[in-house]
Amino acid sequence: MTGVNITPVPRIAVIVVAAGSGTRLAAGAPKAFVGIDEHTMLRHALTRVLQAPEAQIVIVAPAGREGDALTDALAAAGDRRDLVSVVAGGSSRQASVAAGLNALWGDVEIVLVHDAARALTPPGVFERVIAAVDAGGVGAVPVLPVIDTIKRVEDARIVAAVERSELSAAQTPQGFRRDILDAAYRGADQDFTDDAALVAAAGHSVAVVEGDALAFKITTPADLERARSLVARHPLLASAAHLENPTPAPRVGVGTDVHAFGGEGPLWLAGLEWPGEPALSGHSDGDAVAHAIVDALLSAAGLGDIGTHFGTDHPEYAGAHAAAFLSRTLGLLGEAGWRVGNVAVQVQANRPRFSARRAEAEAVLSTALGGASVSVSATTTDGLGFTGRGEGVSAFAMALVVPS
Ligand code: CTP
Ligand code: MG
Repeated sequence: MTGVNITPVPRIAVIVVAAGSGTRLAAGAPKAFVGIDEHTMLRHALTRVLQAPEAQIVIVAPAGREGDALTDALAAAGDRRDLVSVVAGGSSRQASVAAGLNALWGDVEIVLVHDAARALTPPGVFERVIAAVDAGGVGAVPVLPVIDTIKRVEDARIVAAVERSELSAAQTPQGFRRDILDAAYRGADQDFTDDAALVAAAGHSVAVVEGDALAFKITTPADLERARSLVARHPLLASAAHLENPTPAPRVGVGTDVHAFGGEGPLWLAGLEWPGEPALSGHSDGDAVAHAIVDALLSAAGLGDIGTHFGTDHPEYAGAHAAAFLSRTLGLLGEAGWRVGNVAVQVQANRPRFSARRAEAEAVLSTALGGASVSVSATTTDGLGFTGRGEGVSAFAMALVVPS
């Protein structure tokens, strides 16, 4: 049978909030990017989300760290990478959830909000929450009974015993009908501690389902130690982050770049210095060939584009040469589970003349890409256009990436 296989858009979405700074953990990086083993909290959380029923997955990352979140997400997603996207969060958890809500697809009917910090939450908790909302509920929250005896304290004195059987500790994912959650967020006029509190304040009754001890939130260094030793002692917990989603097929990508002549110093192009040739202008060295290759590789891997990873908020790349860009790109690809198949790039320029140095350029670019095959070709444009008038150069690259 011929025909196009159209995958239905999922009716469930999971917003994974990962935009917090992790002040209490104080691990020197935003909490979601702190490693439990060789994988970050975010990667662990996402692997488990991806084992739950199929859903759109929106990751809310700290502003400026969207590229890192996407790398983790794509590595976890395998061949389901089309389901994941990343948006920047806000200054409170509530603002971050709101940013995630704005990124939901039209067909989504049930939304789960999950803390990346609850990195070891098993897929079964997601299933229970979805089932409760699916059964006609407005919302459902996983809870655990409170084990400790609870006292009400004022001025360092116990003023009352609190009946423990009335209490439950709330976890995430918290799931809601999308229309209810959207309306509750639009109407919220104060900060609530979780989504259930916000929806309850909007006048709705939220159900509970059984939580899981593994859904604890990593908040303090002691929590992180607990997560690390659990993962170290239980191979199944560690391997959850490696669970094979089907291997993705090889992918191609394209990239172009243009730079004008008029920069300072010598010309750098295709990873080579060209003494005596006019320089190109740009944030870095203006190497349009290298930048086109970076874009082609990132596009092939679905990792965004050069601005995502090397934008002006990465001042370390100001003035950098091809090797710095290409080796970082290779690293990003590796983290996302790709290696470079081959790269082909064509330069349109009157000058410099590539024929005498083509092999040298290919060798330099290939070395920077860990030995992958790079073909460089060059053409003039018969005097036409800005390249023909000698105002600048243009480069067009294609790349193939294969699963590593
Ligand atoms: N979160 C978020 N945006 C914020 C604050 C928090 O997306 N502005 C997310 C966190 O990334 C985390 C979850 O909400 O996954 C629960 O928050 P919490 O455990 O408090 O994390 P942090 O705010 O990062 O930690 P801390 O309060 O210690 O700074
Ligand atoms: Mg916080």
